[in-house]
Amino acid sequence: MSENLPRTLVPRVPERNLGRFRENEGHEKLNSWEVFETPSHSLEVLKEAAEYLKTKDVPVAFPTETVYGLGADATRSAAVKGIYAAKGRPSDNPLIIHISDLEMLRSLLTPEKSTSNGTANGGHDPIPEIYKPLIDKFWPGPLTILLPNPTPSRLAPEVTAGLKTFGVRMPNSPLALSLIKLTGAPLAAPSANASTKPSPTTAGHVLEDLYGRIDLILDGGPCLVGVESTVVDGLCDPPVILRPGGVSIDELRCCAGWEKVEKGYKDHSETGKSTPRAPGMKYKHYSPKAKVILYEAAFEKGRDGIQIDDIEDLVRDREAQQIPVSKGGPLRVGIIRTRHWKPAAGLRCSNLKRWVREESQEADELYVQEGEFHDTTSGATVGKLLDVSIGEDTRSIAQGLFSALRELDKRDADIIFVEGIVDDEDIGAAVMNRLRKAASRIRS
Ligand code: TXA
Ligand code: MG
Repeated sequence: MSENLPRTLVPRVPERNLGRFRENEGHEKLNSWEVFETPSHSLEVLKEAAEYLKTKDVPVAFPTETVYGLGADATRSAAVKGIYAAKGRPSDNPLIIHISDLEMLRSLLTPEKSTSNGTANGGHDPIPEIYKPLIDKFWPGPLTILLPNPTPSRLAPEVTAGLKTFGVRMPNSPLALSLIKLTGAPLAAPSANASTKPSPTTAGHVLEDLYGRIDLILDGGPCLVGVESTVVDGLCDPPVILRPGGVSIDELRCCAGWEKVEKGYKDHSETGKSTPRAPGMKYKHYSPKAKVILYEAAFEKGRDGIQIDDIEDLVRDREAQQIPVSKGGPLRVGIIRTRHWKPAAGLRCSNLKRWVREESQEADELYVQEGEFHDTTSGATVGKLLDVSIGEDTRSIAQGLFSALRELDKRDADIIFVEGIVDDEDIGAAVMNRLRKAASRIRS
């Protein structure tokens, strides 16, 4: 391949035996992340990636337990600008910082010129008390906390997009922790999708969006959680959740000081007068090319699926409904099922075939059934069906959600019907938040 052609390398980096937390006696639960220096292919790849992050201004994609992130050294402006450029992200939307240990966090909380490392500073710990129970319980893990950004700050100004706070989390992924540790700097990382697309939960998803725009994607396999971290602000009283995510409101409420935590986000259109509190919430998000129609869990309770009338009406009326048809011919209808809808959502179908992904047998594998469906009276073929189930359990639904939206997009679905779930079970709020943002129509 010519040197001038943009290309993107995607090395496989098995996560096993990369490192561990070193627990010093008498110290807090989380101590420094230690990388095992045992020579291995993974370690070599990570060292090269870390070197790249230290010296180049093009971001590197890496897996976390939530979604893939697009990382850059959070202390270097040129590197952080590279993230906004690669993603096509508006620069007023701040980025989450990823750290490998609490000392790294303390150094970010102390003004740049100060020599203090926090705890040595007269015994004063710069981490606010309100966050200690959360850090203890959820880190490393899918929780982002907001903290005051000191002046002067060690962080590049582009990270915070002019806000007085920064968002930070310690990811629960040996690969991510090792990469941060080897880089020796906190990594700013938004989700590694092109702006407005569903977040990526495999290296393949990142490649689809960013091929040729970045040089390196570290492939650690599919993400376990599948939705992004919960973002909380504990600097106000009562504390608020700015974005629902991989930690549920009930789990937060079990922590001292967080019993009264409130929802500070809105799921429905934020185009009204009030400015959304998490700047990211005002943009179009999580959208596949297809038009998404979300059925709230309460919709016509007791039915096993969407009614054929819904689809037949749409097919007949597709111009009025403004459904773009990507390939001409019959309408391509995607269905994402969760708990109650039957296969093919009760439609009269023929030739239903289970399609199996050829190249891998990964845990993220989704089985899509393909077939045709017919008019109930005339029997005429009215559309092509692409049916996928992402499981009944909330965790499995969260894990498969973005993959399913992307898969149906790849198969040129014109429209996608999604079976919603209840908000208040485990991380159902995160699932429904993403779906409501992806949907152009909600049936409730
Ligand atoms: O799980 C995750 O959080 C993933 C992985 C890669 O760690 N990252 C992620 O980043 O989802 P991103 O940039 O796609 O979303 C960050 C969200 C946005 O809604 C942003 O507005 C909000 O966090 N945010 C970041 N810093 C903030 C701040 N200082 N104040 C309020 N909201 C903030
Ligand atoms: Mg994102």
